Amino acid sequence: MPKTQKRDLEEYVNVGHSEAENHLRTQNAQLEQTADVESADAARKLTDFLWFNVFGFAYHYLKSRFGRRHKYQFYPRGDDTGIFKMPIGTTTTNIALLSDWASDTPESDRIGAVVASHKPDYSIHLGDIYFVGAPSEVHDNFISPKASWPRGKLGSLALSGNHEMYSNGDAFFKVLLPTMGVREGDNVREQKAGFFCLENEYWRVIGLDTGYTSVERPFVEIISPPDCHLRREQVRWLRQQLHLDNPEDRRGIVFLSHHPPFSAFRKGYPKPARQLRQFFGNFLRPVLWIWGHEHRMVGYKRREVAGLPIEGRCIGHGGMPVEIDNPRVDNESIIFYDQRERIKLRRIGVGYNGFAWLSFQNEILEIEYRDIEDKVVVSEKWKIEMASGILTKEEAT
Ligand SMILES: [Fe+2]
Repeated sequence: MPKTQKRDLEEYVNVGHSEAENHLRTQNAQLEQTADVESADAARKLTDFLWFNVFGFAYHYLKSRFGRRHKYQFYPRGDDTGIFKMPIGTTTTNIALLSDWASDTPESDRIGAVVASHKPDYSIHLGDIYFVGAPSEVHDNFISPKASWPRGKLGSLALSGNHEMYSNGDAFFKVLLPTMGVREGDNVREQKAGFFCLENEYWRVIGLDTGYTSVERPFVEIISPPDCHLRREQVRWLRQQLHLDNPEDRRGIVFLSHHPPFSAFRKGYPKPARQLRQFFGNFLRPVLWIWGHEHRMVGYKRREVAGLPIEGRCIGHGGMPVEIDNPRVDNESIIFYDQRERIKLRRIGVGYNGFAWLSFQNEILEIEYRDIEDKVVVSEKWKIEMASGILTKEEAT
């Protein structure tokens, strides 16, 4: 049982009224208490998610699938541009990235507790709330007093995966986003769209929405498969607010998305990369791109998609049974792949869940890929050359 602990009076200083702010405070206080506790309130088992449990999924899917997609939300909204400020670059800022995490299992609780024990400044979910991103599922994973989402000290943000859209995105936009946001000074600014930019004077972490366009109407998607393209509102935002082609702005770029621009295992979705390429104009430079969707942890060699040089990382091993099968094609393109077997579930080998821990300090970005036992499986160091805007890899272990 979690030890009981009173809140500090300090926590009530500057209490605002926004939903995001109150969630940030509540969740931080809870996680102080539960950081060392496994399985806070897991409602599911990992075996619920094995591929042959198809009836469970089909039931949820069909129940939620019909109806209209939630209206698309986008920036700017009033004077809110969707660009959030991180602390200045000289201080170390930590961001925990979790993807495909929201399964409400002992594993996701454990990952939540491990992340919370490191007290991240920000935590970001890269999408997929299981099974269908329904209000109750959002509640159980992110909002309920027993939810194990590890809220960052300065805030949390979320991207949509395909699963949120199986219920038309209603709970993602209406239930989850109002609890997400970033502290800036005395205020917490809510996340009001499925995309965002979090930046300081050295780096820009740009969350891309590929979830909304990853799902079409049932049956229509058979004829016209969804391509995860960036919708025109998001394209306008990228062009008019971020100005990625500005040669004076040489900050490092880290894209986040749910869907992979490429994969050595399954289908990739190159369309967003093709769209993004245009925004760089003549100031084309390598970017880091971290995604989920596939339930595994993989680092790829630099690859160009439509001319955009991408340092790609897949971290979809947040909370689902982790796949450890061999790549279907292209073994050569992989730098690291955590293929260790952790357990067998119904005779299927399942790997280690985990998350990515990003530490930004000045020009340096260090990334640790940690597993469910908090072991650093891989770490790497990136540097942005502020004179040229070129991203280089310093070292990896
Ligand atoms: Fe997904």
